[in-house]
Formats: sequence, structure tokens, C-alpha cells
Amino acid sequence: MTGFRRAPRHAIGIDIGGTNIRAGLVDEGGTILAQTLLPSHPDPETVLRRCLSLIADLRGPEVAAIGIGIPGQVNAATRMALSGGYVDLSPLPFAALVERAAGLPVAVENDAAMALLAEAAFGAAKGQPDAVMLTIGTGIGGAVLEGGQLLRGQATAGQLGHVVVQIDGPHCVCGRQGCVETLSSGTAFARHLTDAGLPPHTRAEDLLTRTDTVAQGVIARWARPLRAALDSLITICNPGVVVIGGGAGGAMVKALDRFPPARSWFDAPVLAATLGDDAGVIGAALAGLRALPAPRVKRLVMVNGVPASGKSGVASALAGATGWPLLTLDTVKGPFLQELAPVDRPVNRTLGRASLNAMFDILAEASGGTFLMDAWFGFQPRDVVEAGLARAGLWGVAEVWCDAPPDLVGARYAARVAMRGPGHPGLEYVPELVALAARAEPLALGPVLRVATDGPVDTGAILTWLDSGIWQNSAPPP
Ligand code: BGC
Repeated sequence: MTGFRRAPRHAIGIDIGGTNIRAGLVDEGGTILAQTLLPSHPDPETVLRRCLSLIADLRGPEVAAIGIGIPGQVNAATRMALSGGYVDLSPLPFAALVERAAGLPVAVENDAAMALLAEAAFGAAKGQPDAVMLTIGTGIGGAVLEGGQLLRGQATAGQLGHVVVQIDGPHCVCGRQGCVETLSSGTAFARHLTDAGLPPHTRAEDLLTRTDTVAQGVIARWARPLRAALDSLITICNPGVVVIGGGAGGAMVKALDRFPPARSWFDAPVLAATLGDDAGVIGAALAGLRALPAPRVKRLVMVNGVPASGKSGVASALAGATGWPLLTLDTVKGPFLQELAPVDRPVNRTLGRASLNAMFDILAEASGGTFLMDAWFGFQPRDVVEAGLARAGLWGVAEVWCDAPPDLVGARYAARVAMRGPGHPGLEYVPELVALAARAEPLALGPVLRVATDGPVDTGAILTWLDSGIWQNSAPPP
């Protein structure tokens, strides 16, 4: 029975690139369940509209958050983009606008930082608390993981595409000259092709299979500046691994093999990203989910048993010992019976179902905690109970089953008929109840403890059972 486990949470991850805006519906394990994309655009309002349209395409009831990887400097704490190149979202309060339009919490980071979060959780940097990431695409993105956390400096550390490798090199959008992005990005590769007189759509993979000097020259002009940047980054960061991703990341790793690092004091393995171009989307979704407040554990102890089986005594003793809120079916149903009496048994049963559902609705609204419910759940069809428990969003359910010999149950009922409120059946119900007590069984929708109520009940023993790891069958908090 999985109905009581917390519903799986999904997030929409968006990676805003220079060429495409990619979006994916991602589960907590980093699996992309659906994905879609639209072309990127220099106008921030257009990017905003396209992001909202991608969200609308992927959205479902299980989506709890949105994460967006943004090219440029991003202050994740204030959720503002501070700069950008081809796509510059700094003129807009982008995260707040998406959040307002979509009605879901939005987390933002630099696009390469998102890719590193994904590679660290599920890919080439898994198990490495100290890692450096470079993404080779329209630009070059970068991010550093230090002790398992993104290195932030004052806010925007890790813009590794802007490490200068040639002091009089090409002008960069950041204002400097010779940033590695101007020489080793996908855009720079296209320029190297043109400079060498090669067709513009020539792929790096194709050049890597060629031995002519023109092809080798383009590969050298593209990869050697990155090798220089890597040498500096490895010296500065002393990472356990450097991961190269982005659309051109795989080709770049192969190209770098042509230019091995000099033997040096400083060294680190350089690996191709294993999540490829999906890393940005997966990492963005992960950041969205991580920014959500941790849900509080919500659990229910059902105190179950036929009428007069001793449930109320057990439930109130447990409530008294623990302080857990106690929801009692008779407490909810009583005032309605009082107003409507006399009622026949079908109406009584209907009020019972409505009361049970009211209790499940109260549980559904609670943010967390352990609750007690005192009811003879067997009066209602099992699927009503199952649906209510699922709706309540519980981490775990346990059942304390109150057991007493059928004749004792009948005798107790008979003795209390006069004290029962209006609407309850009278003495004529006793034979039916005795027969019911003989065949009644727990619901067993979670772990069950049978408690004999024909003598004093040991509340401490029930609490020891509740504390003995029985909840481990339920989904643990994240
Ligand atoms: C930007 C970076 C970005 C990278 C990849 C560079 O031009 O300055 O912030 O991460 O492109 O999109």
C-alpha cells in the first residue's frame, strides 16, 4: 500500500542558453520525465514569455518548484541576474516574474552552476566535494564546488569562462580581452573555422579525425587556450575533478587529449560530463526542489476497533501521555446527530462517513505532527478510508487494534445504551454487535498492534511499540 507515502515531488528545470531554452520535468532522482525546448532570444521579455510557455507545457499537479539556470552573473540569494551576454536578463526581476505568473517557487543560479549541481549529484563529479565545472557552448560557463557547496565569493564567484588566457586576445563581452571564452567556446570555434577557410558547419568531431595541418590548427587554436585556463584553475582550486560539459564538451575533452598538461606540481583528472547537455536542466530542477522548505513529518495512529471495544480509553490515554492531537469520530458526528435526531441507521452511516472525511480533511490541512484518530473504521468501505489517508498526505500510518471478547463487547454496549447520545442504536443492536466483534479484523493499512482491552491497558507498551522503528516502512523525510 503506497497511498500513504508522500506524493513524489517533481520540478521543472530550465536552462537558458545562447541557442536554446531547454526545459525538463525532472523527478527527485534526477530523471528527466519529459522535455521540450524553444529557441533562445536576446530580448529578455521574449525569453520570459518562452519560459512561461515551456512551464505551461510541462506542468502537472506534482510539480512543486521551478529552477532556472541563467547565463551571466547571478546572485542566487537575491535571485537577480547581474549581467549577461547574448541573453541578458539583468533588466528584469526574472525569478519574481516567473514565480508570480506560474504560482510556483522559483530558484535561480548561473547556468553552469546548475550543471555542476547535477554532475555532483548524479554525474561525473558524484562523490567529489571539491570540483570545477566548465561548460563549452555559445559561451564558456564555469562553477566551483568547495566542500560540497557552490563557491560564491560575494555572490558571483566561478565565472570561469572569463579567466584571461591571452592578454591581447579578442575583446570579450565582459569588458576584458583574451578571456578563454573568446578562444575556446563554440562561438570561438566557428570563428576559427572561418579564419581557416573551412565551411561554417564543420564539426569539431570531424576535424579530430583529420590529420591535415588546417584541421589540426583549428583544434589547437580552440583547445590550447582551454588547457591554459585549466592549468590555472587546477592550481587555484585544487579540485578532485574537473568536469567539462555543454554542447561542445565531449569534443573539447577529446581535443584536450592532444595537448596534455605539462608534468607539474598541480594535477587533477579532467572528465567529460556524464549528463551531457541535460545537466543544466537537471541541476536547475534540483536547485528548485532544494530551495523548498523541508516538509514536516505527518503521521497517524489509528485507534481502531468495533463499538465498545475500548478504543476511546486507549486513544485518550495515548493523547494524554503524548500531547498528540486526538480526532474522535463521535466528537465530530455528535453535534450533527444532536441537531438531526432521531435518525435512522442509513443517515447515521452517512454522517459517520462525512465525519470521517472531515477528520481526514483536518489532517490534510495540518503541516505536520503525529495525530491520533479514534473511530470504528470498519463502518465505512475500505476505499473511503484509503482515499482519506492518501488525501491527508501522511508519511506513515500505524494501527492500534482494540480487542475484547465479543460477549464482553456486547455487555459493555448494553450497559452504556442509556448513556449514548441520540441517534445510536439501542439494545436491539447487541446481538449484531457481538457477531461483528467475532469477525472484525484490523484494516492493516500499516503496522498493527493488537491490544487486549478486557483488562488494564499498558499505554507505555503501546508507546514503546510506536517508538520502535515501525514507521520505517513509511517514506522517510527527504
Ligand atoms: C557568461 C557566463 C555563462 C556562460 C555560459 C558566458 O558568456 O558570462 O555567465 O555561464 O556564458 O552560458
